[in-house]
Amino acid sequence: MQGSLFPPSSSGASSLPEATVSARERVAALRDAIAAHDHRYYVLDAPTVSDAEYDALYRELRQLEAQHPELVTPDSPTQRVGGQPLPEFPTVRHTVPMLSIRTETDTEASGARAFDARVRRELGLTENDPPIAYLAELKFDGLAINLRYENGVLVQGATRGDGENGEDVTQNIRTIRAIPLRLNGSNESIPALIEIRGEVYMRRDDFEKLNDRQLAAGEKTFVNPRNSAAGSLRQLDPAITAKRPLSFFAYGLGEVAGWALPETHGGLLNAIERFGLPVDQHRRRALGAEGLIAFHQDIAALRESLPFDIDGVVYKVDSLALQRRLGFVTREPRWAVAHKYPPQEQFTTVQHIDVQVGRTGKLTPVAKLSPVFVGGVTVTNATLHNEDEVKRKDVRIGDTVIVRRAGDVIPEIVAVVIERRPEGARAFEMPRQCPVCGSLVSREESEVDAYCSGELFCPAQRKQALLHFAGRRAMDIEGLGDKIVEQLVDKALVQSAADLYRLTQNDLAGLDRMAEKSAANLCVALEKSKYTTLERFIFALGVRHVGEATAHDLAQHFGSLDALMAADGDALIAVPEIGNVMADSIRSFFSEPRNRDVIAALRAAGIHWPDVVVASTTSGPLTGLTFVLTGALPTMSRDEASHRIVEAGGKVTGSVSKKTSYVLAGEAPGSTLAKAQTLNIPVLDEAALLQMIESSASPKILSQVNS
Ligand code: IVH
Repeated sequence: MQGSLFPPSSSGASSLPEATVSARERVAALRDAIAAHDHRYYVLDAPTVSDAEYDALYRELRQLEAQHPELVTPDSPTQRVGGQPLPEFPTVRHTVPMLSIRTETDTEASGARAFDARVRRELGLTENDPPIAYLAELKFDGLAINLRYENGVLVQGATRGDGENGEDVTQNIRTIRAIPLRLNGSNESIPALIEIRGEVYMRRDDFEKLNDRQLAAGEKTFVNPRNSAAGSLRQLDPAITAKRPLSFFAYGLGEVAGWALPETHGGLLNAIERFGLPVDQHRRRALGAEGLIAFHQDIAALRESLPFDIDGVVYKVDSLALQRRLGFVTREPRWAVAHKYPPQEQFTTVQHIDVQVGRTGKLTPVAKLSPVFVGGVTVTNATLHNEDEVKRKDVRIGDTVIVRRAGDVIPEIVAVVIERRPEGARAFEMPRQCPVCGSLVSREESEVDAYCSGELFCPAQRKQALLHFAGRRAMDIEGLGDKIVEQLVDKALVQSAADLYRLTQNDLAGLDRMAEKSAANLCVALEKSKYTTLERFIFALGVRHVGEATAHDLAQHFGSLDALMAADGDALIAVPEIGNVMADSIRSFFSEPRNRDVIAALRAAGIHWPDVVVASTTSGPLTGLTFVLTGALPTMSRDEASHRIVEAGGKVTGSVSKKTSYVLAGEAPGSTLAKAQTLNIPVLDEAALLQMIESSASPKILSQVNS
């Protein structure tokens, strides 16, 4: 790059004085260098200089241009933001109309086949003719723009408008650094006139950052990258547009003169790329309908991971000669079609805002929506998380809102369409009393969430607490689902978890959806659940903030329920991973007499667990060793094996790391085994472990990859 900054002195037909001649050369070299760096940074995404080096070049160019105003030209990088705010955008007449394309909304297979069949029919082809070559592209979700280059210099940028007349947004287009002010290439290779068409868009990460900035500055945020790009490009003051992170992809051509067209659309895109414009790399030549279907599927799988939004793919007949033969119907080409994916955003209305009460009493406002098909499913609910969120989004009952569901993410309300707010739309207010039990609702000043103070008096909390208690990772009571719990609480058969163990088969058989057989099964499941582990039991109690991992830590640390129940704040904080908030919540749970009664009743009902051997205080043959278990062992369950290890002074962890001493592997081990092998960690089987525990001899190692 340095080299091009100091080109050999030209023989110079210029009649300017010596100093100006070298300034002129230096200015030209600086411009070339900056344009090349812009291209590498904004188009190729592969910068070769630091920001500081780039800034130095830019500053020098600015200074030289200030000293020699006669050297300033419109294609200088310093002229990207120069214009004054406009009163309005002038109208531009498109010499070649900007068309739209027909959209297929059918499944990937029938949509692509229908298009291919139409093209073949129009061209008069039969089954015996070879498949048609297409060029498949992404359908970018931004706004269409026409860029006009005369003798390689960008002279105009215009929106599509109605296809015939658009708006002249040249000043704004010039601020987009991915768009070159001058085309790359030798004079002979550059067309006298070329209009390049494509999409101005905003990357998702740029959109998020922009919204964060807008929020921090107390300005309006944007709903999605597309609106953000459109809003930014339609600013009358180019200084504002210049601060917006806009990007561009080229996908087609408008008017051309003085240039030999390539033979294919793919060739055209390659040529546009050589001119220095961004062309998306996912474009692909596809043969026949099958090729198009494969492209549609491949892109669907990638869609979520792309850095920008797309709303589908576009198929184009690759040969420009065939495109000419196919021509147009009304305002659409016969040689191209857009094939959309299910929309990830839709409009719908908020019918009302419910408040749901969770297991811990947390109140969550949930918007009940008019059913809407979005992201491939019908959505009727969207969580609003908490009161502040409802206020921030200003969602009111009756509002039209934009709902988004991308991938497997839960649906969310992105924004309200304020223009469509009906008169009398009602604002949401968090109720002062629990909608289920009528207890007072409280909200700590420092917290965003409001809670029902009814605790286990509140049927909603009780139902959730029972479901949590019965859950697979807690007491694992098979068959105790929400429909049953609902009835047990509503019919006052069950107040607390302890009551579950007093239920008779008769009680259960009287419930809806409960046949004799399933009542019997549930009784067996209840009986089975009585033998559990301390950590499962602690988790099942549903202490606020105590998840599975914390329950495990508590069981390991205290070793018995009595010790845990007796622990004061200091004793709790002594457990690694437990902070003040958790310690407070654990203490207040166990000091509540009602909770202590339920626990006593559960133990009286026969719930029990094997003793926990506290690792830190035990020493034995495995002291200082850490084990990871994988696969099914021949005689012991994994729990038993863990227990034996801990008893012998060892530690058991969930995943392999450099600190793992041994991996204990059984039948059908998971990826753990492979990981152990790459980390060169010795692998044992059950017999070797037992031998180690019993004789404290060196184990027989199953495998060890030697580095
Ligand atoms: S080709 C004559 N290719 O989709 C063909 N359009 O109705 C003209 N779009 O608003 C369009 N990605 O801005 C084409 N790869 C792509 C596209 C694309 C997005 C937009 C375009 C227009 C609409 C087509």
